[in-house]
Amino acid sequence: MATLRLGDIAPDFTQESSQGPIRFHEWAGDSWVILFSHPADFTPVCTTELGRTAALGGEFARRGVKPIAISVDPVDKHQQWIADINETQNTTVNFPILADADRKVSELYDLIHPNASATATVRSVFFIDPKKTVRATLTYPASTGRNFDELLRVVDSLQLTDSHKVATPADWKDGDDVVIVPSLQDPAELKERFPKGWNAVRPYLRVTPQPNK
Ligand code: BEZ
Repeated sequence: MATLRLGDIAPDFTQESSQGPIRFHEWAGDSWVILFSHPADFTPVCTTELGRTAALGGEFARRGVKPIAISVDPVDKHQQWIADINETQNTTVNFPILADADRKVSELYDLIHPNASATATVRSVFFIDPKKTVRATLTYPASTGRNFDELLRVVDSLQLTDSHKVATPADWKDGDDVVIVPSLQDPAELKERFPKGWNAVRPYLRVTPQPNK
């Protein structure tokens, strides 16, 4: 399968998981989804990552996001590992972990990078919107744990763009100024959407307060 690109439809699949068989598109429903792979169960960085995801459950839910993890380990190993994550990370893993022992999903989502490892999945993340469109991706090596606050920040940025036609500048965090998307040029719509106005540093660089604050 060719590499998934932004704007592609996230491939549908049916696969076993720690919460039983999952038909992906049906499971996702009308939610956003963060599908993220980890190299292997019972490894240190992965244990902290899944613990952190569980701890942030309220933050994902508040944004309408369902997390789902995946590795090529089998269901029984996931079950044993979940108990370990809960104990060592002082949390409750209540999202599914796909058991992709036959690599069906790993191949669909290009999660095994043979020049990094012939057997383990890399640390990829797919941000998938309610229309099942891949909106953002990232990939880290096994040795680098992901920043889960950054995943939430990306979701916030994507959702702000959808709802308010703004983009988020470098190092933006929730509450900071944003920029009006270049495609929005209609004066009436600009006035309606941005009643507080904007600072046109350049015609293409229109800075405005975050509209939903
Ligand atoms: C880890 O999760 O700690 C890990 C997994 C595979 C390779 C290196 C580190």
